[in-house]
Amino acid sequence: MKKTDPHIIVIFGASGDLTVRKLIPALFNLHCRGFLPSCFAVLGLGRTQYTNDSYRKKVVDDNPHLMKNEKASHDNMAGFARHIYYQTMDSQKESDYAILKERLAATNEKCATQENYLFYLSTPPSLYQPIAGNLAKVALNKEGKGWKRLIVEKPFGYDLDSARGLNRDLLSSFTENQVYRIDHYLGKETVQNVLVTRFANSTFEPIWNRNYIHHVEITAAESVGVEKRGGYYDSSGALRDMVQNHLLQLVALVAMEPPNQSSAAAIRDEKLKLFQSLRPLTFDDIRKNVIRGQYVGSRINGTFFPGYREEEGVDPQSKTETYAALKFFIDNWRWADVPFYVRTGKKLPTRVTEIVVHFKPTHHRLFTFTNDHINSGNTLVIRIQPNEGILLKFGVKIPGEGFRVTNTNMDFHYDKLNDSYLPDAYERLLLDCILGDATLYSRGDSVEAAWAFVDPILKAWQASDGMKIFGYPVGTWGPEHADQLIEGENFTWRYPCKNLVGDGAYCEL
Ligand code: BG6
Repeated sequence: MKKTDPHIIVIFGASGDLTVRKLIPALFNLHCRGFLPSCFAVLGLGRTQYTNDSYRKKVVDDNPHLMKNEKASHDNMAGFARHIYYQTMDSQKESDYAILKERLAATNEKCATQENYLFYLSTPPSLYQPIAGNLAKVALNKEGKGWKRLIVEKPFGYDLDSARGLNRDLLSSFTENQVYRIDHYLGKETVQNVLVTRFANSTFEPIWNRNYIHHVEITAAESVGVEKRGGYYDSSGALRDMVQNHLLQLVALVAMEPPNQSSAAAIRDEKLKLFQSLRPLTFDDIRKNVIRGQYVGSRINGTFFPGYREEEGVDPQSKTETYAALKFFIDNWRWADVPFYVRTGKKLPTRVTEIVVHFKPTHHRLFTFTNDHINSGNTLVIRIQPNEGILLKFGVKIPGEGFRVTNTNMDFHYDKLNDSYLPDAYERLLLDCILGDATLYSRGDSVEAAWAFVDPILKAWQASDGMKIFGYPVGTWGPEHADQLIEGENFTWRYPCKNLVGDGAYCEL
């Protein structure tokens, strides 16, 4: 276990939902599992008035997300709560930063945290720049004695221009090495396992290219809608909310070249190169190869589920997409002419995220497949969630006369691993930042490169009424037009179920 330095985690937006739902439970787990040093403190900041005690009660004692934890005994919780403090401040008020500096100095003295400070911006993005600037004005960016790091949440920019502006602003107060842009998908164990599958096995990498792979599809389906986030979501949409960040990160991990070492710089360099190789989509490509949809109300088993436009905080005339599917290419030696298909949507039949690699069929077909509609190529499914695992579909002989072939499954499930504790994404990411390891964080240049790919789509949708948005009933797999994206006989999207166990044998939605 790597040793973590003494430190203070300073949370801006400390009374918000993310802090209660994700950050405090992640820190609690790290604490219980012995990853945090004895000298650590959490300093929550916000405009709401709390004392240390009332804040501890809110985020520890009364936190329903923490109570679910099997380690949430009275002693563990009380021991953890003693590390938590609160300071009332207005993060937009420059004069409050002198108060913060004093409070940090006092906490640092009391808790012996060696002036190592991690600032977590769990605030609306409009506050990133003012907070970073104000921290710099009181020299809280200076790494004289201890380290100073800044974590920013998504959305990182609204389009290419704003992402560039935000990078420029942050980097005028902190250096790139101090800025950690979080993408919680990269904190998922199964996402990290994509790199291990590719680069720790000699079987896959030699065939991981245009000679053997027919196409790649990536699906991130959600059964939930926009919940209470209609206001945010309506000015975002699926492309900004999921594709620009989480899904393009998955594309990068599947498609990047092997890094020469497992360091943050080497891996992030390869991801950048991959983003730079995405073939820019022309207006015509966007019209043909990008499908957007919005869920509309539907009745399922007698119950009516309202459509997106009826959700709280959503414009009743909204044209924001809750579903996006796209086809694109990667212009490099490895992937020339291999189509990549990516889709995501809300209110789909089930929650599942998976990467499906379709291999080309054998060059010469010696045997008959039992079902001609089954494509004879092998398929590798990397299941990110739920039912995390890997599934390889391949042909076997049906016992009996002749050579008749059917597809069968060879599968691995994470829950079969002994001691397979799957840490929550925030747990892993917070720990990495405390350790100063930025491998699983997005670097500024690749965030911009990902925006450069997505930006023309946003512009085309904005500019032209000719770009249709299709309605799809709640509980379906999105607009049927998305099926037409996938070329080739016998190919369609894989319509996955929640279960990966016994895939194809039964379906649990
Ligand atoms: C967030 C999006 O980044 O990711 C949400 O803002 C989405 O809209 C969520 O629901 C999906 O994350 P996960 O981990 O549930 O797949």
